[in-house]
Formats: sequence, C-alpha cells, structure tokens
Amino acid sequence: MSSSPKRVLVTGGAGFIGSHFIRLLMAEHPTTEVVNLDAMTYAASHENVAEVADDPRYSFVEGDIADAEVVAKAMQGVTHVANFAAESHVDRSIHGAVDFIRTDVLGTYVLCEAARKEGVERFLQVSTDEVYGSIDQGSFTEEHPLEPSSPYSASKAGGDLQALAYMHTFGLPVIITRGSNTYGPNQYPEKLIPLFVTNALDGQKLPVYGDGSQVRDWIHGRDHANGILYALLGGTPGEVYNIGGGNERTNMWITKQILEQTGASEELITYVEDRLGHDVRYSLDTSKAQRELGWKPEISFDQGLADTVAWYKERRDWWEPIKSGEYKEFYEKQYAGKV
Ligand code: DAU
Repeated sequence: MSSSPKRVLVTGGAGFIGSHFIRLLMAEHPTTEVVNLDAMTYAASHENVAEVADDPRYSFVEGDIADAEVVAKAMQGVTHVANFAAESHVDRSIHGAVDFIRTDVLGTYVLCEAARKEGVERFLQVSTDEVYGSIDQGSFTEEHPLEPSSPYSASKAGGDLQALAYMHTFGLPVIITRGSNTYGPNQYPEKLIPLFVTNALDGQKLPVYGDGSQVRDWIHGRDHANGILYALLGGTPGEVYNIGGGNERTNMWITKQILEQTGASEELITYVEDRLGHDVRYSLDTSKAQRELGWKPEISFDQGLADTVAWYKERRDWWEPIKSGEYKEFYEKQYAGKV
C-alpha cells in the first residue's frame, strides 16, 4: 500500500463502518492525523471511537456535512477525505427522504466543494451496491448502470454522481467504493443482523419481510473498512471499486442462523408485510478491487457471524440503552401492528 496519509478527514466516523475505518487507519498508520466530523445523529456513538479518543492524533468535530461553514473549518490542512456520513436505512427513507437528500446528496456536494478549495490529494466517497438496483442473475460490475430503486439508494447515487462530476469538472481526485451489506460489532440495531440478534436475545419477534427469500451479499465491517482504506490509498482517481464479501445468503438463512446461535425458538419468526419496492437480490463482482488494489475480504462469514452474535451477547450495555427513546419511536412506526 502507498505511504501514510498526513491528515484524513473522516466524516461519519462515529458510525458503524466509519468507526471501524478510524480504528484501522490509526493502528496501521501511526503518523496519520484523523479529524472525525460527525453530526451525532441517532446511529452514531462516541463509544464507537472511545479507543482512539485520547490519541493526540485524533480530533472530533460535531457537525453536519451539509453545513459549509463547519466543513470548511474541518477541512483545514486535510490531505485525504473519506466520506462515510450518510443516512443509510432503506426503511427510514421510505417514511421520508428529506434527511437522505440533505446528507447524502447536498452533504456530498458541500464536502466536494470544500475539498476542491483545500486541494486535497484524495477524496473517497463511500457508496453502496444498492445504486445498481437489483439483479436476478450474475453480479454487478462497476460498469453496471445506476438503477437505484429506493429513496435511500437514489440519494446515494446522487452523491456518487456529484462527486464524479467534481472530478470531471474540477479535477477533484475522487475514488468511489460501492460496498455490500455490512455486519459486525457496533452496528445500530435497525439493520437485519443486529435487529434480529438483539430481538432473539430478548425473546422478541423477528419480523421477516415477505417470504425471506431475498438475497444479500454480506461483508464484515472490518473487511469493508479495510477495502475502503486500500481504495483511498491505492485506488486510481476517477475509478469505482466494488467491495463485497462474496457471502450471498437469503434473509431466511440469516434468520435461522441467528436463532441457532442465540438458542432462540423458531416460533419467533414472524412474516410481515414486504418492504415497498423491495430489491430481490444484490450480488457484487469484486474482481477489480482484488486485482487493482490487492485487497480481499479476510473474515469468513461463519466466523464473523459467530463473533458478532457473541459481541451482542456480551455488549448489552452498548445496545440496551439504544433500544429506547428514538429507536422505539421508529420501531413502532415501522413495525406497528406487524409484530
Ligand atoms: O447493500 C448495501 C446496503 O445494505 C447499505 O447501503 C445500506 O445502508 C444497508 O442498510 C443495507 O441495506 P438493506 O436494505 O439490504 O439492509 P437491511 O438490513 O435493512 O435489510 C437486509 C434484508 O433484510 C433486506 O432484504 C430486508 C430484510 N429485512 C430487514 C429488516 C430491517 C427484514 O426482512 N426484516 C427487517 O426487519
């Protein structure tokens, strides 16, 4: 991999994948400074970055990436940007997409503009396989057209296009990664795996959308963060890299694994009304990242899932407080009358 970056602005660094990235970056590059700009919305937690909080190379700025003033200040002296900040939950975007458009599209624009003025060496836009839409057979390569189908994925696609336009128009050295479904410790329990693990541990119902036959390709948060780091340091500006785990599973397979590993009863499975516009299958061809970046995922799905279940079993102190307040409000709106 290329030499250590001097100063990296990580946005959304108190979130799930962003915090894995910060820990990895600071451990592997002992001279690199990190500025974590995070709006501390519902899915972020200071605990996710507690390990590095006292490191003199780390600084934290609370702020929104769509706020040009905050971003301009945070960008000072920055050589590399990794934009993790995003509204990311599909179901929330179906209830209303304004926050998604603000953060994922407007926020990306504001960051690109500040990065251009600062003359950064690299701008890494963290994106998602969902911008490609759904695929029945075969796998998405980076050449696949963008066909997002949810308000969330449409917002992410808007961010990708804005960043690429900044490369084309102003020469901002933009690199994009498109990641698959990510799981692991520290993930907010609204997403399938942490939601089902924590519900199973509490003897609560597991709300399976439709018939549970939809397929996702799963990657561990640490592997995903590592792929992003490889792309930031070794990727070619203007290029897109797919980062996936190569672990395609149906939602029902995941559900049964979780029940087995938590020792909960299959009676907890509850079939609920399907997600509107539910994408049937995602599948990523990651050969470009493997070939050109020399990256590959290292954590097997069996091991990663077992470790993740063990983490949620041990870390009730992390997730129990989350499953109150704002979380409850969303849960009731999303699952009311269904579970
Ligand atoms: O593919 C990458 C994307 O993966 C990321 O860009 C998104 O930010 C991330 O949220 C994730 O999107 P999904 O919609 O695939 O993830 P989610 O965990 O919400 O759902 C995974 C599958 O499980 C999906 O087919 C819907 C289903 N599901 C989900 C929930 C929350 C259920 O059956 N029941 C549920 O309660």
